[in-house]
Amino acid sequence: MLPRCALSVCHVLMLVLCLSSAEDFDWTKNDHGSFYYGTFPAGFSWGAGSSAYQTEGAWDKDGKGLSIWDVFSHKKGKILQNDTGDSSCEGYHKFRDDVSLIKELKLNHYRFSISWPRLIPTGIKSDHVNERGIQYYDELIDHLLENKITPIVTLYHWDLPQVLQEKHGGWQNISMVNYFNEFANLCFERFGNRVKYWITFNNPWSIAVEGYETGEHAPGLKLKGTGAYKAAHHIIKAHARVWHTYDTQWRAKQKGQVGISLSGDWGEPVDISNQKDIEAAERYVQFYLGWFATPIFHGDYPQVMKDFIGRKSVQQGLGSSRLPTFSPQEKSYIKGTCDFLGLGHFTTRYITQKNYPSARSSSYFTDRDLAELVDPRWPDPGSEWLYSVPWGFRRLLNFVKTQYGNPVVYVTENGVSEKMLCTELCDDWRIQYYKDYINEMLKAIKDGVNVKGYTAWSLMDKFEWDEGYSERFGLYYVDFRNKNKPRYPKASVQFYKRVISSNGFPNQREVENWRRKATETCSSSNQLLAADPLTSHMEMVTEIVVPTVCTLSILLSAIFLMFLLRRRN
Ligand code: NOJ
Repeated sequence: MLPRCALSVCHVLMLVLCLSSAEDFDWTKNDHGSFYYGTFPAGFSWGAGSSAYQTEGAWDKDGKGLSIWDVFSHKKGKILQNDTGDSSCEGYHKFRDDVSLIKELKLNHYRFSISWPRLIPTGIKSDHVNERGIQYYDELIDHLLENKITPIVTLYHWDLPQVLQEKHGGWQNISMVNYFNEFANLCFERFGNRVKYWITFNNPWSIAVEGYETGEHAPGLKLKGTGAYKAAHHIIKAHARVWHTYDTQWRAKQKGQVGISLSGDWGEPVDISNQKDIEAAERYVQFYLGWFATPIFHGDYPQVMKDFIGRKSVQQGLGSSRLPTFSPQEKSYIKGTCDFLGLGHFTTRYITQKNYPSARSSSYFTDRDLAELVDPRWPDPGSEWLYSVPWGFRRLLNFVKTQYGNPVVYVTENGVSEKMLCTELCDDWRIQYYKDYINEMLKAIKDGVNVKGYTAWSLMDKFEWDEGYSERFGLYYVDFRNKNKPRYPKASVQFYKRVISSNGFPNQREVENWRRKATETCSSSNQLLAADPLTSHMEMVTEIVVPTVCTLSILLSAIFLMFLLRRRN
């Protein structure tokens, strides 16, 4: 998800040297004494999330068209171990079971995404609408509602129809705005009587940077220094267009809300007494969250992005900035197109100023003139980029409050992974992560941040993009080796369930108790998992051993028969 290159050993060491000066400066830093016992406001919504390509599987079933991720993951060398989302968690076939898991957790909402090519195989509505795709989401939505779970639906979680990429260049082309608007309009028309929370885009930062700048994600383009800015420009316009479509055509009747889900790491200055570091950390957040949030809340890109990219473009001898511009009409059209802000947050970085000479090749990363650092003491149980730094969450939430006029916020993603070989259901470190991050969110609410809901990421283990199945974010463990893709609860399920039923953290004794009980129950689930290789073994018996033994028996009988016949002759 994040630029891994940024974290060199030397950066880590350098931070150790700097830390002594940055150690005791703040009002939000987490230490053991600062846990806040208390509850969330009444009506606070608890949920968990997933996305279509990461969980559905059924990549070529029932009339679905190809997405850029189907094509990208089928190319050798793009995904770790050449994994694909072809079958993934088989969510397309198992959605009823998954709603039971959601019920078991007593979630108030479930966040999932709609696969655009499952509904419109070529991406262009006038070509063809796939009714079987509509039926799948109809059934999922109905089933959630029957179980009193509010659907929060993302329209675009990265799976662009391949035809739009091939024929039009995907998000490099402004024509995506119309195609996306038609798709969104179809969703409002067919599902909007039941879905009241819409998210236009999930994490446009990743779509732009990893899809069109570094090429680590589909469609895998490396258009350094321009591709990401152009993609982002079109995405912001597409978001605004869809918000207006809902506002003018559906809102009065359907009474729903349309937001966007942005991601942002928090950036903390390495040395808080150094103005250059303070500015660099501010730039880090502005180039990340601010890139999308500032146009949507204030009508234009952050001034610091315009200044830095503009200046570097001039130095590179370009006639205009590599950062595109909005016309005055566009600015007022885009400004205010957000009924709520979805926020995805996982981690934090320390930031220091670092100059990159602009004569060298341009890129989004060098445009920022900064270096990212991590504290080697931060826990990092899973993904290489994901360090657990709970206090950064509270700071980011307060940043949102002050920068964007205290909007309604739904946390749309927050969670932690574990590494591939670790099939441990007793995920104590995940319990710790959720406990501390959720607690920092509670403190942020006490600070006055308008957070209305929280979505644990993710409901179950799933395809983790270029990392394949090697990083597990799930509350539920999925056994991908077994073709039935059975799910098993990790200990964090029990813990999260308690947080939900108490709507927070009542007191130390109880919270410690939850934790103890959660780890106790997970050892019995572990036995289930231990039994699971048996299931796979049974499959092997029925699928390989039985046919082989049969064939051999037939052969042997034939040979024996021939032998008998010969002897007779
Ligand atoms: C953000 C993405 O939206 C999500 O799909 C992914 O699983 C998480 N990051 C973790 O990398």
